[in-house]
Amino acid sequence: MVSITPVPRIAVIVVAAGSGTRLGAEAPKAFVGIDEHSILRHSLRGVFAAPEAQVVVVAPAGREGGALTEALEAARDRRELVTIATGGSTRQESVRAGLQAVWADVEIVLVHDAARALTPPAVFARVIAAIDAGADAAVPVLPVIDTIKRVDGDAIVAAVDRSELAAAQTPQGFRRDVLDAAYRTAQDEFTDDAALVAAAGHAVAAVAGDGLAFKITTPLDLDRARSLVAPIAPAAVGISPAPAAPRVGIGTDVHGFGGAGSLWLAGLEWPGEPALSGHSDGDAVAHAIVDALLSAAGLGDIGTHFGTDRPEYAAAHAEAFLARTLGLLGEAGWRIGNVSVQVQANRPRFASRRVEAEAVLSAALGGASVSVAATTTDGLGFTGAGEGVAAFAVALVVPA
Ligand code: CTP
Ligand code: MG
Repeated sequence: MVSITPVPRIAVIVVAAGSGTRLGAEAPKAFVGIDEHSILRHSLRGVFAAPEAQVVVVAPAGREGGALTEALEAARDRRELVTIATGGSTRQESVRAGLQAVWADVEIVLVHDAARALTPPAVFARVIAAIDAGADAAVPVLPVIDTIKRVDGDAIVAAVDRSELAAAQTPQGFRRDVLDAAYRTAQDEFTDDAALVAAAGHAVAAVAGDGLAFKITTPLDLDRARSLVAPIAPAAVGISPAPAAPRVGIGTDVHGFGGAGSLWLAGLEWPGEPALSGHSDGDAVAHAIVDALLSAAGLGDIGTHFGTDRPEYAAAHAEAFLARTLGLLGEAGWRIGNVSVQVQANRPRFASRRVEAEAVLSAALGGASVSVAATTTDGLGFTGAGEGVAAFAVALVVPA
């Protein structure tokens, strides 16, 4: 069967090729973790929740593969809409590279900073609506809150009337022909695309911005993003238990097929089976067990301890996650009662290796009892369609 996906009339160029000098992290800014997900992943989540569009991610040179993985995971059922481009040495060069990758029939182009990771989808919708209503260009803006002064060295030389000022955000939207033409003729370097299009003689409309569309520029901005996405820590709400009585916890995890290399599941390598995608090896069974154990002990969840800001877990297998989890439980005064996990998957077939999986998982948890069960779903749901696997775990922890 030939499936024809209609080409969307909108494209979003997500510029993520900056190095993040002011943030000063080890990795390029877009790849720095907010929680268990990177800045890029968070911004793409907003982009894919917005009206359907081709999504062009402009990655730093050499990071195209990582950007593609992030984009495909964020895209879910919109994977055909993902395009990756390689950025340049300035933001403007990166936008230009993205623009060259926009599909022929696209009529509206939005340019968005990956660094505005928490931008709500509604901002995209407002920008698109302004272009649909006839504007050549539209920019989300926020009123300026601080009193603004003009300075000359150490001296304040004038007050500026802030009622006529606004702070510009992204996504900035344009008629595609207008943006193409403006980029073709641009000589100077501009700090945003609206300025470049305005310099080409076009009017730019303002739409309401959103405080959550702030740009992560400095370490303080990153702290703010982290606290905005962080779950309320158990200790902060007073339920972190001193170990006294047994407690149970539940954990689930899902990974789609589509990773590189071999399949790792339940702590075992499955040669010849398609790999799962995900940070680390995508071992949904191990991750569900980790969540069940941490939850039982009131210690948060897998993202709390093994996020993308912990690069040492990027290539890790089940043993590393489980051993560290066992350590965390021990430090908090818990030992494991037992763990029970069920896998939902068409493949691999677990029957012949179930006991082996139990032995490996148990060994990684210091000899704790681990039961593994597996089931198919009669062809129903995403596991039945063979798109991925799901795992459900419960765990009992008891005071050490
Ligand atoms: N950007 C880009 N290509 C560049 C420079 C910037 O794609 N050569 C992107 C960044 O990835 C970011 C957005 O433009 O999403 C806004 O830029 P900025 O916040 O300045 O990010 P960086 O340039 O990475 O940070 P810094 O200026 O602190 O180095
Ligand atoms: Mg910059």
